[in-house]
Amino acid sequence: MKQVKNKLANILSENLGVEVSIEDIERPQPEHGDFAYPVMKAASELGENPRKLAEEAAGELEASMIESIDVAGPGYLNFHLDREAFAEHVFKAFEHERFGLEERDGKVLVEFSAPNLAKPMHIGHVRNNCLGDSLQRILRFMDYDVTSENYIGDWGTKHGQVIYAYRKWGSREEFEEAPMEHMYELYVRLHDEADEEDKNKAREWSKKIEEGDDEAVRLWEMFREATIRHNEKEYERMGIEFDRVTGESVVADEAQEIIDEGLEKGIFKEDDDGSVYVDFEDEEFPNTVVKRDDGSTLYISRDVANIRKRMDEGFDTNMYVVASEQDLHFQQLFRITERFGYTDIKNEHISYGMLHLQSGSMSSSKGNIIRLSEILDKARDKAREVESRDVSNAEEVGLGAIKYANLSVSRNKDIEFDWDEVLNFEGDSGPYLQYTNVRAKSILEESSMEGSLVGGLEDKEYRLLKKLSEFPEKVEEAGEQREPAKIANYLSGLCEEFNTFYHECQVIGVDEETEKRRLKLVEAFVEVTDQGLELLGIEALDEM
Ligand code: ARG
Repeated sequence: MKQVKNKLANILSENLGVEVSIEDIERPQPEHGDFAYPVMKAASELGENPRKLAEEAAGELEASMIESIDVAGPGYLNFHLDREAFAEHVFKAFEHERFGLEERDGKVLVEFSAPNLAKPMHIGHVRNNCLGDSLQRILRFMDYDVTSENYIGDWGTKHGQVIYAYRKWGSREEFEEAPMEHMYELYVRLHDEADEEDKNKAREWSKKIEEGDDEAVRLWEMFREATIRHNEKEYERMGIEFDRVTGESVVADEAQEIIDEGLEKGIFKEDDDGSVYVDFEDEEFPNTVVKRDDGSTLYISRDVANIRKRMDEGFDTNMYVVASEQDLHFQQLFRITERFGYTDIKNEHISYGMLHLQSGSMSSSKGNIIRLSEILDKARDKAREVESRDVSNAEEVGLGAIKYANLSVSRNKDIEFDWDEVLNFEGDSGPYLQYTNVRAKSILEESSMEGSLVGGLEDKEYRLLKKLSEFPEKVEEAGEQREPAKIANYLSGLCEEFNTFYHECQVIGVDEETEKRRLKLVEAFVEVTDQGLELLGIEALDEM
């Protein structure tokens, strides 16, 4: 509990006369105490013997919740709390809508997903969608003013290709029947069959879009609309909502302005062929082009314009959930906007590693991508196979499995996706969390009583309580570090603790006091897991 750690840190600071922060307060093995403070650092600052200092301090420290303090090893202060006072403190915090977390303020933009026009979302979007969505949920929970944005890749030299291919091979009928299938087929066909002439003609269509040619714009809009519609269904399936959908096209004009301004201010340089670039000679990055010799802007120029736009909209923090392949892009981008003096907005690239499927575990049906929808289908079908109990929620279980697998690994690490592990009901998986949550709810249903804190807490009960009490600070850590894995892993450990508790402590049909007290813990477990799952975007089920 942060408040308790805080309190201990304050008491220690006052009494020792050194700065003690909450990060200095540790959680020792349960047999040693509830919290601990190593006095060694303070002792060396004060030039004293740590063991002696710890012994002196132990004699002097006093606070309402502390029952006893003992000194161990070279200079550890181990605190034992008054269990009931601590429990009351925890349950009181849990009554609060944010489980006692202090509210944050700040206007935050979370950009994620950002798929491209006329292409279905693929495996690369799976982790992105899971991460971005969980992040927006966590930050909202902390009370930040969050806007989530889907920034579609809908501008640039490639988009003439679909138009060209559509006019050459496409049909209105097929498009209307299954727009994404058709667009993607055309894309793959162009990719496989195009010769130089085709490529040149496709490029002309891109130019026509930029110039506002009627037919080009009409088709571009039709494809854009169809892409967004198609993706909406996949987001709905994943339980993901955006506050707004924008795209590179929205800032295309501004990107041209930025080029002029950058040249004027000497931030950009013009090359002999008329293209414009940024010189990073004094920095560790390669130079980057912001305008081509044919006058068209690039991906990065639109991003510069977009940062200006978001700054003008009043965002304090601007987050990009984008894979680590684009690390360099964002480093260059942020360096450029610094040179423009856009310092009122704090930009963050929320980078993450690859999701690999085990080789041979899935083959793509068309083109050479594995589609997002294929992965969701497979998870659902697998969940149906594994689940002997209830197959009606295979979709939710499959989805829970995917989300947990993507969120429980820290962002910077790659993920090796193993279908059996991902759907293992016995531990460290989405279904395990969902199942333990359902099991706890069914205990509550079985009893006619309500939980309340009566009688003293036994060791096994107290262990569960202590684990429960860590929830708010895990949420805070996850939010601050943009790392949903903190919550995912915490929940997994909590479920394990709960299962141990339930195995060892009979809840229903014991004496009334014990039943009520244990029910109180089960209730708190349900609250924490309901909320925790919600922050991961995983559905808490009623039955399983
Ligand atoms: N559409 C891009 C892609 O698929 C990702 C866009 C990321 N966001 C950004 N503001 N650059 O690679």
